[in-house]
Amino acid sequence: MTSPAMLGGHDVGGFDRWAERYDRSLLQPLYLRPLHRRLLDALSPAGGALLLDVGCGTGNLALRLAEELGPEGRVVGVDPSPAMLRQARAKPRPPGVLFVLAPAERLPFPEGTFDAAVSCVSMHHWARPRTAIRDVARVLRPGGRVALADMRALDPIRKRVQRRLHPDHHEGWEPDAVAELFLEAGLRRVRRRALGWLAPFAVLVVGERPG
Ligand SMILES: C[S@@+](CC[C@H](N)C(=O)[O-])C[C@H]1O[C@@H](n2cnc3c(N)ncnc32)[C@H](O)[C@@H]1O
Repeated sequence: MTSPAMLGGHDVGGFDRWAERYDRSLLQPLYLRPLHRRLLDALSPAGGALLLDVGCGTGNLALRLAEELGPEGRVVGVDPSPAMLRQARAKPRPPGVLFVLAPAERLPFPEGTFDAAVSCVSMHHWARPRTAIRDVARVLRPGGRVALADMRALDPIRKRVQRRLHPDHHEGWEPDAVAELFLEAGLRRVRRRALGWLAPFAVLVVGERPG
């Protein structure tokens, strides 16, 4: 049987332990909130839409999306970490926001469900990124857009430090590698988005399911 901590073939125990302190991390103002802003700009979500946030963590981006969409908007956040979802569900939220326990590789939704999808700094934790991107593409409606931001591949010095500190940790992505996965999954109009001062630290790629 799959234990919650191993959903998606990936050990999310680290996130379960981090969940309670996650929103107090310095990463929030320095890295995550600016990326959330850029993801919102990349999608410019329209009222009435149904959106998916993959690897939603404590729900901050999903809640920001809901705010942007207004009272009609519906947002589903998925994450395989029960403790992260517990934090998300404890926050005040409009009735159209739902948090579901699931990994990106096995999204429990029928084909063509969502108008758009986002994901922020989650993909480098996915056990099977190729499978996951394919599943995100599957649950988008024709013409639906996905915007994904993640940690950028480290330069050689930071890579060496990271390998010593966290030998199992994925070292991040280059935009071309993300774009390739998008194209392989059948997404089109794939392009990287400008990130300003965040560019050395993050990638942001947008794609569309063909209409
Ligand atoms: C650094 S947090 C980012 C959370 C959130 N997107 C944000 O912007 O604050 C990474 C999240 O990815 C989730 N994650 C790990 N493996 C995953 C998988 N296979 N599918 C979906 N999410 C996953 C973790 O549980 C964690 O909540």
